[in-house]
Amino acid sequence: MTSNLFSPLKIGALELTHRVVMAPLTRMRAHVPGNIPTKLNVEYYRQRASAGGLIVSEGAQISESGQGMPATPGIHSAAQIEGWRAVTEAVHDKGGVIVLQLWHVGRISHSSVQPNNALPVAPSAIAAAGNAFTANFERVPFETPRALERKEIPLLIETYAQAARNAMAAGFDGVEIHGANGYLLEQFLQSRSNKRYDGYGGSIENRSRLVVEVAKAVSSAVGPDRTGIRLSPFGVANDSGVDDPFPLYAHLIGELSKLDLAYLHLIEPRASGAGQAEVDHKNVPFASELFRPLWGNALIAAGNYNAETAETAVAEGRADAIAFGRLFIANPDLPTRLRRRVDLNAYNRATFYGGGAEGYTDYPALADA
Ligand code: FNR
Repeated sequence: MTSNLFSPLKIGALELTHRVVMAPLTRMRAHVPGNIPTKLNVEYYRQRASAGGLIVSEGAQISESGQGMPATPGIHSAAQIEGWRAVTEAVHDKGGVIVLQLWHVGRISHSSVQPNNALPVAPSAIAAAGNAFTANFERVPFETPRALERKEIPLLIETYAQAARNAMAAGFDGVEIHGANGYLLEQFLQSRSNKRYDGYGGSIENRSRLVVEVAKAVSSAVGPDRTGIRLSPFGVANDSGVDDPFPLYAHLIGELSKLDLAYLHLIEPRASGAGQAEVDHKNVPFASELFRPLWGNALIAAGNYNAETAETAVAEGRADAIAFGRLFIANPDLPTRLRRRVDLNAYNRATFYGGGAEGYTDYPALADA
């Protein structure tokens, strides 16, 4: 049987030999202080690299105030760039391709991980429901964030562009803008977290403005053919969610499509919890199907895919490539296992966030992979 999942694909400037993508996965194992990628992190990515396979890194904060949890790696200091360089070299040594996910968490943070213990920033001073991680890995209710002033927005946009340049300096093949899962850019998109009265709030056009401006700035910094963006139109992670996502996301994707970016990465509605909870909604449309007509370039879909559903999605043209999250955590050689249709290791949710090698670099690969 010919496989669509294991056929080559060009995504902007990225040349892939198969379409099994490693999804961005926060693991909270960077070196503290400094939030610097470590040797253990290098080993984790090296294990998961494959010839011609695309890895999207875990979210990397673009600035100190972009951080939401302890021990997440940044991409704003010289030491972090050096740390990431060892990661990109290890992936390239195996013939792999790796892009860095540019992350600003907005209100999904806690003052204990913020510079000078300041309040997190957000479009509006509205606290998210749920619990933050403190610097000591404790869980406490989210604080009410400080609303960004209009005059701070140009610097915020430039911070994204600078972080993208830093990623290229660290040897990444491109960047992915994190516009999903209830973090800063999605907080701007959605009216439940954005009550601004300036040009960045109110109408769909205004709420989309920051995302479009960030995408423009990042793509001019590193090239549109090395810039992707991730969106979760139906997501409910981190107290996000819109009743009727179609008008908002149809407008946004229409605007983004004018920028000729390398790819659009969509999380499927059935995985609205973004891997944070075991949800698999039935009888919901595919995001890739709904928005595909609005997007001419490569489309990556993610969310509860397995070998069979991934193959079907690519065969039917709903997506060009499929990103796998939890299965990649537990299966360092996932592309080989999917190609051979062999058994997969089960993931252990208890070791997703924080800790050391256990549940991180100790999942076994096939003997001959
Ligand atoms: C995630 N996810 C995620 N998404 C993202 O855009 N940036 C990130 O840093 C993370 N971090 C993260 C950590 C962990 C432990 C999990 C389980 C998930 C979401 C992830 O990329 C993916 O969309 C979901 O896991 C759904 O795909 P799977 O796991 O069903 O293949």
